[in-house]
Amino acid sequence: MNPQPKLSLLFSRQEIEAAINRLAAELNRDYPGKYPILIGVLKGSFMFMADLIKLLEFPLEVEFVRLSSYGGGKKSSRKIKVVQGLHAPIKGRDVLVIEDIIDTGLTVNFLLDYLRRKKPASLKLCALTDKPSRREVPVTIDYLGLTVPNEFVVGYGLDWDEKFRNLPEIYVLESED
Ligand code: PRP
Repeated sequence: MNPQPKLSLLFSRQEIEAAINRLAAELNRDYPGKYPILIGVLKGSFMFMADLIKLLEFPLEVEFVRLSSYGGGKKSSRKIKVVQGLHAPIKGRDVLVIEDIIDTGLTVNFLLDYLRRKKPASLKLCALTDKPSRREVPVTIDYLGLTVPNEFVVGYGLDWDEKFRNLPEIYVLESED
C-alpha cells in the first residue's frame, strides 16, 4: 500500500471553470450551424466533457473512445492501442476530440490518425490542459484551456494509479522525498 502522497493546488475550481467558460465561448463562436460529434478520450476526459457540453449552444453528439498505451521501457517506443473504438460513423461529420491532457502527444497523435482515416469533414482538438515540456510528437491544439508545468498532475479526471480523478481541482503530486 502506497503512503498518501502530498498534493499541492495548481488550479482552483474557479480557474478551471474560467478556462472551460472561455473554451465554450470559442466553440460557441466556431460551431453554430454545425452538428459536431464530440469524442472524449477515456478515462481522463469524462469530467471535462460533462462540464464543457453543458455550456455549448449548438446541437452535438457525444461519443467516447478508450485508448491504452503499452510497450517497452522507453517512453518514445510506447505503443497505443484502441481498447474501445468508435461505433458511430464520422465520415463527412465535424469531429471535435476532447482530451484532459496532452503530454507526450503520442495518444492524441495516434487517435487523430485513426479518426482521419474515417474521413471526417473536419477534425479539431480541444484539451483542458497541456504539458508542452514533455512533447515527443508535434500536436496542434485548436482549443486549449490551461498549460501545466512539467509535474505530475492529478484531479478533475486526471489520475495517479487510478486515484484522485474525483477531485474538483487540479493538483501537483509532490514526490515523497
Ligand atoms: C492520459 C490522458 C491522455 C494521455 C496523454 O491518459 O488522458 O489521454 O494520457 O498522454 P500522452 O500525450 O503522453 O499520450 P491515460 O493513458 O493515463 O489513461 P486515462 O485517461 O484512463 O487515465
